[in-house]
Amino acid sequence: MKKIFFATSNKNKYLEAKAILKSFNVNVEWLKGEYPEIQAENLEEIASFTAKWVAEKTKKAIFVEDAGLFIQALNGFPGPYSSYVYKTLGNQGILKLLEKEPNREAFFISVIAYCEPTSEPITFIGKVKGSIAYEARGDKGWGFDPIFIPAEGGGKTYAEMGPENKNKISHRRKSLEKFGAWLSKTR
Ligand code: IMP
Repeated sequence: MKKIFFATSNKNKYLEAKAILKSFNVNVEWLKGEYPEIQAENLEEIASFTAKWVAEKTKKAIFVEDAGLFIQALNGFPGPYSSYVYKTLGNQGILKLLEKEPNREAFFISVIAYCEPTSEPITFIGKVKGSIAYEARGDKGWGFDPIFIPAEGGGKTYAEMGPENKNKISHRRKSLEKFGAWLSKTR
């Protein structure tokens, strides 16, 4: 089994990645920590910067992941600012911004950036379309899970689906599947 380090401070992301990449015969190890993140409008740019920084510092083959929730009625906000917006406004703040807004369309994007100490980062993108619920629903999730309803989730929020079912269809599943397939072919 191949071993690859996932640099993240987020235990939920680590657990999702470990479960998903297991089926690609990849053993994900948690490189727990806070790593520098640039502020930019493009998730690939943000993830690539961090991946290169961590690979050079640790001299290991590592990956990082950066995600964002893009809400159509808010012109794509919070997008690359999702982490800050989650900390400041939270789910209730997002619901408030969308009060009386009939257009609930949104999508989640996950970008994986993989990097080896002496090479440039490679990115893999996963996208899931869906909508924003009218109220927070479900207690089996984290982050925006209680307010995001994926189009292929039978009307449930990610937090109502729970990790096992979320992992079958999520934005992270899609980016990790591409990454896993690439690893199997090239590494
Ligand atoms: P990050 O910058 O990739 O850590 O994520 C941006 C924000 O989106 C953070 O506040 C996360 O909590 C949230 N987030 C990322 N992925 C997910 C997910 O799969 N479900 C719910 N929230 C998420």
